[in-house]
Amino acid sequence: MHADEPTTAPADTGRYRGDAQPVDHDEVLILDFGSQTAQLIARRVREQNVFCRMVRHDLSVDRIREINPRGLILSGGPASVYAEGAPLPDPELFELGIPVLGICYGMQVICRSLGANVNSADTREFGRSPCRIVDPGGLFAGLPDELIVWMSHGDQVEDPDGMFVSLATTDTCPLAAVRHAERPIYGLQFHPEVTHTDFGGQLLKNFVQDICGCDGTWDISSLIDEQVEKIRTRVGSKRVICGLSGGVDSSVVAALLSRAIGDQLSCIFVNNGLLRSGEASEVEERFTEHFRTDLHVSNAQREFLDELAGVSDPQQKRKIIGRVFIEVFRKEAESIPDAEFLAQGTLYPDVIESGANPDGPAATIKAHHNVGGLPEELGFELIEPLRDLFKDEVRRMGEALGLPEHLVWRHPFPGPGLAVRCLGAVSEDRLITLRAADAIVIEELREAGLYREIQQAFAVLLPVQSVGVMGDDRTYQDTIVVRAVSTDDFMTADWFRLPYEVMERISTRITNGVPGVNRVVYDISSKPPSTIEWE
Ligand code: XMP
Repeated sequence: MHADEPTTAPADTGRYRGDAQPVDHDEVLILDFGSQTAQLIARRVREQNVFCRMVRHDLSVDRIREINPRGLILSGGPASVYAEGAPLPDPELFELGIPVLGICYGMQVICRSLGANVNSADTREFGRSPCRIVDPGGLFAGLPDELIVWMSHGDQVEDPDGMFVSLATTDTCPLAAVRHAERPIYGLQFHPEVTHTDFGGQLLKNFVQDICGCDGTWDISSLIDEQVEKIRTRVGSKRVICGLSGGVDSSVVAALLSRAIGDQLSCIFVNNGLLRSGEASEVEERFTEHFRTDLHVSNAQREFLDELAGVSDPQQKRKIIGRVFIEVFRKEAESIPDAEFLAQGTLYPDVIESGANPDGPAATIKAHHNVGGLPEELGFELIEPLRDLFKDEVRRMGEALGLPEHLVWRHPFPGPGLAVRCLGAVSEDRLITLRAADAIVIEELREAGLYREIQQAFAVLLPVQSVGVMGDDRTYQDTIVVRAVSTDDFMTADWFRLPYEVMERISTRITNGVPGVNRVVYDISSKPPSTIEWE
C-alpha cells in the first residue's frame, strides 16, 4: 500500500461510501485511460493551484455535467486506439463546450473520435525530443520557441482534412500538439506532466488557468478552512475519536479536527511497544501540550509482546499485531461512550487504489498490507478529511496547521512497526538493540542533510550472529542492516547511494555504541526484486 499511517490505513475497501463530494472551488477532471503518469498529471495541476481529481475514463456525460468541471484532461494510456477493447470516451464529451486537453493516448482518442486518423508511426518515439512551437499563443503562451519534450508513443495523429491546427512539431511527429479549429479542444502527443518535459507545469497552467478559466486560488490554507467548516457542520456538538499513530497522516487529521472542533475531539494512541525511539513520548507531548486534545494513551506494550513471543513468520506477526491493535483500540474507544465519529487519515492514493470511488478510475489494486486498519463493526461514522489529497499536500497541510517539520517530513513507518524489522522472534531485548541502531541511522542521515532526500531509511536486526574481535577477545554478536531507498511511490525503489563517510559514521557509532552488535552491513538491493522492508 501507499506507505504510511498504520492506524488509519483502510482495512477493507468495501466500506467507502465512495461519494465524490461536491467541492466549492473550480475543478478539473482527469479521465484516466490507464497511464502510469495519470496521478502525476493530477499533482502537476494542483501545483498550479487548481483542484482536480482523477475519474474513470468512461464516466457518464450526465455525471460530468453534475460535477460541472471547468476543464477535462484525458490522460495517456497503454492501448492503441484501434486495439480491440481500447478504452474510448463518450463522444458527447466533446459537445459539452468544456475545454478538453488530451495527452498522448488522450490526444489520439480525441482526434479519432472527431474524425481524424491515428496511424502507427514509422518509428516509435520514446524519450526526449526537441519540439518546435509553431503557434506560440494559448497553450504555449510564455514558452520558448523550442523545448525538449518527453515522448512515449507508437501511434500518431494524421489530419488530412485540417480539422486540427498544428501548434508544435517534432522531427518525426508533425502534429506534436494540436488545437481543434473551432472548439476549445487540445491535444499533446508528449507528456507535460513528467519532469523531462521543459515547461510542462507552465503548459498545464496555461490550460487550466487561461483556457479553462480556473482562478488558481486553490491552496492548502483554503482547503483547511473549507475542511474545518465541513467538519463543524457535519459533527455539530458530537464527539469524534481519532486514532493517532505518530505518523504524518493521523497527526494532520488530529490537528485539523482540533482546529475544527477543539475539545469535542478525543485521540487514542496505542503504544504497541514496536515504535521507534522517542516516538511515543513525542506523540503524547504534542497532542496534550501543543494541541491540548483529550488524549487516551493505551500502554499495551506487554499485550503485543506476549502475543508475539516466539513468532518468527512475518505474516503471522502482522496478523497478531492487527488483531491485538483492534482489541486494544476497541477497549479504549469504549471508554469514550459518547463518540459518534471516527476520523481516519485515508489519502487520495488509497481511495484510487482501493477502487472505492465509483467515479474513480479502475482499481489497480495493490497488495494491501492491511495492518492496523479498523473494522467497520466499531460502528462509527467515518470522517476522512484527507481523502482528496496526495501525500505531499498532506505534509503541506501539516505545516500550515503548525505541526513540526520533523514530524511532517517523517519517513513512512509500517503498521507492524519494528516487529517486521526485527527478523526472527521479537523480544524486548532485541527491540532495544534495534531501536538504538535505528536512532543512530536516522540521526546521522539528518546530520548529513540527507534525510529529506531519502524516502525511507531504517535499521534491521538480523537473526544472524557473526564473529568479531574486540580488544583481545573474540565476539559472536548480532548484525544490523542499514536500508535507505529512494522512491516515488514505494511500489518500486532504488537503494540510496549513501556517501562512504556517512556509512562509516553509522557503522562506527553502532558497533561502538549498541551493545551486542559487532557488524553493520548496507543493503544494496532495489525493489523489485527485493522489497523495502525485510519482512
Ligand atoms: P515493501 O516492503 O512492500 O514496502 O516494499 C512498501 C512500503 O509499505 C510499507 N509497509 C507497510 N506498511 N503495514 C504498513 O502499514 C505493513 O505491514 C507494511 N509492510 C510494508 C513499507 O514500510 C514501505 O514504505
